[in-house]
Amino acid sequence: MSSIEQTLSIIKPDAVERNLAEDIKGIFIKNNLNIVNSKKIHITKDEASEFYKVHQSKPFYSDLCTYLSSGPIVVMILEGKNAVLANRKLMGSTNPKEAEENTIRKLYGISIDKNSVHGSDSIENAKKEIDFFFKN
Ligand code: CMP
Repeated sequence: MSSIEQTLSIIKPDAVERNLAEDIKGIFIKNNLNIVNSKKIHITKDEASEFYKVHQSKPFYSDLCTYLSSGPIVVMILEGKNAVLANRKLMGSTNPKEAEENTIRKLYGISIDKNSVHGSDSIENAKKEIDFFFKN
């Protein structure tokens, strides 16, 4: 079964800083994930803490929120067939060292923190994450 879904993608500060946003967008488009909305923003640590609150019990939570708020990011709504899973496959494993060949994190990730992209992990979280950045 396949269905048209939307998912949230974030190009993180390490990738924006290295001018990789257009290359990463090109990978999504080439793989039939349409970018239906996109904006470059710089969020506060409080906003990052709210966004990543599902990780609040993890030891890396504070560093993660400091990092996401450390520079501009690009947030996008991707739309396409099975977009949540398709995006996660294109991103590769969380740790770039373990990511599959030709995935975004393998190509561009620096470390588990500076792993270049975030993508929603379920349809339910995609809805919440899209609302977080795009609901007026
Ligand atoms: P992301 O997909 O944005 O979701 C949470 C982020 O936490 C993850 O990517 C990593 O960049 C970061 N992170 C840092 N340390 C870890 C860890 N040990 N396990 C999982 N994620 C981690």
